[in-house]
Amino acid sequence: MIRLQNIEKVYRTNTVETLALNSISLDVAKGEFLSIMGPSGCGKSTLLNIMGLLDAPSKGNIQIDSQTTDKLNDQQLAQFRNKKLGFIFQSYHLINDLQVLDNVELPLLYRSSSAKERKMLATEALEKVGLANRLKHFPNQLSGGQKQRVAIARAIVGRPEIILADEPTGNLDSAMGNEIMDILMKLNQNDGTTIVMVTHDENMAHKTHRLVRLFDGSQVQ
Ligand SMILES: Nc1ncnc2c1ncn2[C@@H]1O[C@H](COP(=O)(O)OP(=O)(O)O)[C@@H](O)[C@H]1O
Ligand SMILES: [Mg+2]
Repeated sequence: MIRLQNIEKVYRTNTVETLALNSISLDVAKGEFLSIMGPSGCGKSTLLNIMGLLDAPSKGNIQIDSQTTDKLNDQQLAQFRNKKLGFIFQSYHLINDLQVLDNVELPLLYRSSSAKERKMLATEALEKVGLANRLKHFPNQLSGGQKQRVAIARAIVGRPEIILADEPTGNLDSAMGNEIMDILMKLNQNDGTTIVMVTHDENMAHKTHRLVRLFDGSQVQ
Protein backbone atom coordinates (compact mmCIF):
# COMPACT_ATOMS: atom_id res chain seq x y z
CA MET A 1 0.00 0.00 0.00
CA ILE A 2 2.89 2.30 0.84
CA ARG A 3 6.35 1.80 -0.61
CA LEU A 4 9.30 3.95 0.42
CA GLN A 5 12.59 3.45 -1.41
CA ASN A 6 15.85 4.96 -0.18
CA ILE A 7 14.21 7.97 1.37
CA GLU A 8 16.54 10.69 2.53
CA LYS A 9 15.51 13.98 4.09
CA VAL A 10 17.89 16.83 4.74
CA TYR A 11 16.72 20.00 6.47
CA ARG A 12 18.84 23.05 5.85
CA THR A 13 18.81 26.27 7.80
CA ASN A 14 21.40 29.06 7.48
CA THR A 15 23.68 27.48 10.02
CA VAL A 16 22.95 23.77 10.23
CA GLU A 17 22.16 20.83 8.03
CA THR A 18 20.22 17.98 9.62
CA LEU A 19 20.02 14.54 8.07
CA ALA A 20 16.54 13.73 9.42
CA LEU A 21 16.13 10.50 7.44
CA ASN A 22 18.93 8.36 6.13
CA SER A 23 18.10 5.91 3.36
CA ILE A 24 14.82 4.51 4.66
CA SER A 25 13.18 1.73 2.65
CA LEU A 26 9.90 0.44 3.96
CA ASP A 27 6.85 -1.37 2.62
CA VAL A 28 3.52 -1.20 4.38
CA ALA A 29 1.05 -3.86 3.21
CA LYS A 30 -2.62 -3.25 2.60
CA GLY A 31 -4.48 -3.85 5.86
CA GLU A 32 -1.34 -3.68 7.97
CA PHE A 33 -1.15 -1.82 11.29
CA LEU A 34 2.43 -0.62 11.67
CA SER A 35 3.91 1.31 14.58
CA ILE A 36 7.02 3.47 14.58
CA MET A 37 9.04 4.16 17.72
CA GLY A 38 12.28 5.96 18.55
CA PRO A 39 13.67 8.80 20.69
CA SER A 40 12.60 12.38 20.22
CA GLY A 41 14.18 13.98 17.15
CA CYS A 42 14.98 10.68 15.41
CA GLY A 43 12.79 11.48 12.38
CA LYS A 44 9.44 9.83 13.15
CA SER A 45 7.25 12.81 12.24
CA THR A 46 9.38 13.55 9.20
CA LEU A 47 8.86 9.98 8.01
CA LEU A 48 5.12 10.11 8.60
CA ASN A 49 4.81 13.47 6.82
CA ILE A 50 6.70 12.10 3.84
CA MET A 51 4.48 9.00 3.75
CA GLY A 52 1.48 11.31 3.88
CA LEU A 53 2.79 13.49 1.05
CA LEU A 54 2.78 16.52 3.35
CA ASP A 55 6.50 16.92 2.82
CA ALA A 56 8.80 15.87 -0.02
CA PRO A 57 11.93 13.78 0.49
CA SER A 58 15.34 15.14 -0.56
CA LYS A 59 16.00 11.81 -2.29
CA GLY A 60 14.11 8.60 -2.91
CA ASN A 61 10.77 7.34 -4.10
CA ILE A 62 7.29 7.03 -2.65
CA GLN A 63 4.52 4.91 -4.06
CA ILE A 64 1.06 4.86 -2.59
CA ASP A 65 -1.32 2.19 -3.79
CA SER A 66 1.06 1.52 -6.72
CA GLN A 67 1.02 5.14 -7.82
CA THR A 68 4.31 7.01 -7.98
CA THR A 69 3.75 10.41 -6.46
CA ASP A 70 6.74 12.51 -7.45
CA LYS A 71 5.21 13.74 -10.71
CA LEU A 72 2.02 15.08 -9.14
CA ASN A 73 1.63 18.85 -8.91
CA ASP A 74 0.41 20.54 -5.72
CA GLN A 75 -3.24 20.36 -6.63
CA GLN A 76 -3.04 16.71 -7.66
CA LEU A 77 -1.17 15.96 -4.44
CA ALA A 78 -3.85 17.66 -2.37
CA GLN A 79 -6.56 15.69 -4.15
CA PHE A 80 -4.70 12.43 -3.77
CA ARG A 81 -4.15 13.08 -0.03
CA ASN A 82 -7.78 14.04 0.45
CA LYS A 83 -9.00 10.83 -1.14
CA LYS A 84 -6.50 8.28 0.12
CA LEU A 85 -5.20 9.47 3.46
CA GLY A 86 -6.50 10.44 6.89
CA PHE A 87 -4.26 12.21 9.41
CA ILE A 88 -4.38 12.22 13.21
CA PHE A 89 -2.05 14.38 15.30
CA GLN A 90 -1.03 14.42 18.96
CA SER A 91 -2.59 17.84 19.53
CA TYR A 92 -5.82 17.09 17.60
CA HIS A 93 -5.65 20.14 15.26
CA LEU A 94 -9.38 20.86 15.56
CA ILE A 95 -10.83 24.24 14.68
CA ASN A 96 -12.03 25.72 17.94
CA ASP A 97 -14.78 27.97 16.60
CA LEU A 98 -16.42 25.21 14.59
CA GLN A 99 -18.82 22.73 16.15
CA VAL A 100 -17.85 19.07 16.24
CA LEU A 101 -20.01 18.18 13.24
CA ASP A 102 -18.54 21.01 11.14
CA ASN A 103 -14.98 20.01 12.07
CA VAL A 104 -15.67 16.49 10.83
CA GLU A 105 -17.30 17.70 7.61
CA LEU A 106 -14.21 19.74 6.65
CA PRO A 107 -12.41 17.18 4.45
CA LEU A 108 -15.62 16.70 2.46
CA LEU A 109 -15.74 20.37 1.47
CA TYR A 110 -13.00 19.63 -1.04
CA ARG A 111 -15.20 17.04 -2.71
CA SER A 112 -18.39 17.38 -4.64
CA SER A 113 -20.71 16.13 -1.90
CA SER A 114 -23.98 17.92 -1.10
CA ALA A 115 -24.56 19.54 2.31
CA LYS A 116 -26.99 16.78 3.20
CA GLU A 117 -24.56 14.05 2.24
CA ARG A 118 -21.75 15.76 4.19
CA LYS A 119 -23.91 15.89 7.29
CA MET A 120 -24.87 12.25 6.95
CA LEU A 121 -21.29 11.04 6.47
CA ALA A 122 -19.97 13.20 9.33
CA THR A 123 -22.72 11.98 11.67
CA GLU A 124 -21.91 8.38 10.71
CA ALA A 125 -18.20 8.93 11.39
CA LEU A 126 -19.00 10.47 14.78
CA GLU A 127 -21.26 7.53 15.64
CA LYS A 128 -18.38 5.21 14.85
CA VAL A 129 -16.18 6.90 17.47
CA GLY A 130 -19.00 7.04 20.02
CA LEU A 131 -19.68 10.78 19.84
CA ALA A 132 -23.14 10.91 18.28
CA ASN A 133 -24.29 12.90 21.33
CA ARG A 134 -21.72 15.70 20.91
CA LEU A 135 -22.45 16.99 17.39
CA LYS A 136 -23.18 20.58 18.46
CA HIS A 137 -20.42 20.89 21.05
CA PHE A 138 -17.36 23.03 20.46
CA PRO A 139 -13.91 21.45 20.89
CA ASN A 140 -13.21 23.36 24.13
CA GLN A 141 -16.27 21.70 25.68
CA LEU A 142 -14.72 18.25 25.22
CA SER A 143 -12.14 16.17 27.10
CA GLY A 144 -8.81 15.35 25.44
CA GLY A 145 -9.98 11.84 24.59
CA GLN A 146 -13.18 13.19 23.05
CA LYS A 147 -11.22 15.74 21.01
CA GLN A 148 -9.03 12.97 19.66
CA ARG A 149 -12.14 10.97 18.78
CA VAL A 150 -13.44 13.97 16.81
CA ALA A 151 -10.07 14.09 15.03
CA ILE A 152 -10.41 10.39 14.19
CA ALA A 153 -13.93 10.97 12.85
CA ARG A 154 -12.53 13.78 10.68
CA ALA A 155 -9.75 11.46 9.47
CA ILE A 156 -12.16 8.67 8.49
CA VAL A 157 -15.09 10.69 7.15
CA GLY A 158 -13.83 10.44 3.56
CA ARG A 159 -13.25 6.68 3.97
CA PRO A 160 -9.49 6.79 3.36
CA GLU A 161 -7.63 3.54 2.83
CA ILE A 162 -4.72 4.74 4.94
CA ILE A 163 -4.58 6.47 8.33
CA LEU A 164 -1.37 8.13 9.51
CA ALA A 165 -1.33 8.91 13.22
CA ASP A 166 1.48 10.90 14.89
CA GLU A 167 1.49 10.08 18.61
CA PRO A 168 -2.32 10.03 18.80
CA THR A 169 -2.32 9.05 22.49
CA GLY A 170 0.62 11.26 23.46
CA ASN A 171 -1.48 13.86 25.29
CA LEU A 172 -3.89 11.41 26.91
CA ASP A 173 -3.94 9.47 30.18
CA SER A 174 -3.75 5.70 29.80
CA ALA A 175 -7.52 5.08 30.02
CA MET A 176 -8.27 7.59 27.25
CA GLY A 177 -5.24 6.39 25.30
CA ASN A 178 -6.57 2.84 25.39
CA GLU A 179 -9.95 4.00 24.12
CA ILE A 180 -8.28 5.68 21.14
CA MET A 181 -6.16 2.59 20.50
CA ASP A 182 -9.30 0.40 20.57
CA ILE A 183 -10.94 2.62 17.94
CA LEU A 184 -7.87 2.44 15.70
CA MET A 185 -7.69 -1.34 16.08
CA LYS A 186 -11.36 -1.67 15.14
CA LEU A 187 -10.86 0.49 12.04
CA ASN A 188 -7.99 -1.76 11.06
CA GLN A 189 -9.78 -5.04 11.77
CA ASN A 190 -13.32 -4.23 10.63
CA ASP A 191 -12.71 -1.86 7.74
CA GLY A 192 -9.28 -3.09 6.65
CA THR A 193 -7.82 0.41 6.96
CA THR A 194 -4.04 0.45 6.70
CA ILE A 195 -2.62 2.34 9.69
CA VAL A 196 0.82 3.75 10.44
CA MET A 197 1.14 5.09 13.98
CA VAL A 198 4.04 6.84 15.70
CA THR A 199 4.01 6.16 19.42
CA HIS A 200 6.13 6.46 22.57
CA ASP A 201 4.16 3.72 24.27
CA GLU A 202 5.58 0.17 24.02
CA ASN A 203 2.23 -1.29 25.10
CA MET A 204 0.41 0.38 22.22
CA ALA A 205 3.15 -0.59 19.77
CA HIS A 206 2.92 -4.23 20.78
CA LYS A 207 -0.76 -4.31 19.92
CA THR A 208 0.07 -3.56 16.28
CA HIS A 209 1.22 -6.03 13.62
CA ARG A 210 4.76 -4.74 13.24
CA LEU A 211 7.10 -2.29 14.92
CA VAL A 212 9.77 -0.25 13.16
CA ARG A 213 12.38 1.52 15.29
CA LEU A 214 14.25 4.61 14.17
CA PHE A 215 17.44 6.03 15.62
CA ASP A 216 19.08 9.20 14.29
CA GLY A 217 17.20 8.98 11.01
CA SER A 218 18.01 5.34 10.34
CA GLN A 219 15.87 2.26 10.69
CA VAL A 220 17.36 0.02 13.37
CA GLN A 221 14.65 -2.64 13.53
N1 LIG B 1 11.25 22.06 9.46
C1 LIG B 1 12.43 21.67 9.96
N2 LIG B 1 13.54 22.42 9.77
C2 LIG B 1 14.75 22.03 10.26
N3 LIG B 1 14.94 20.90 10.98
C3 LIG B 1 13.87 20.12 11.22
C4 LIG B 1 12.56 20.47 10.74
N4 LIG B 1 11.68 19.49 11.12
C5 LIG B 1 12.42 18.59 11.82
N5 LIG B 1 13.71 18.96 11.88
C6 LIG B 1 14.81 18.19 12.52
O1 LIG B 1 14.80 16.89 11.98
C7 LIG B 1 15.00 15.91 12.99
C8 LIG B 1 13.81 14.95 13.03
O2 LIG B 1 12.65 15.64 13.50
P1 LIG B 1 11.25 14.92 13.70
O3 LIG B 1 10.94 14.13 12.49
O4 LIG B 1 10.27 15.95 14.12
O5 LIG B 1 11.56 13.92 14.92
P2 LIG B 1 10.58 13.10 15.87
O6 LIG B 1 9.19 13.18 15.33
O7 LIG B 1 11.14 11.71 15.86
O8 LIG B 1 10.71 13.70 17.24
C9 LIG B 1 15.22 16.67 14.28
O9 LIG B 1 16.59 16.81 14.48
C10 LIG B 1 14.58 18.00 14.01
O10 LIG B 1 15.19 19.02 14.76
MG1 LIG C 1 7.43 13.90 16.19
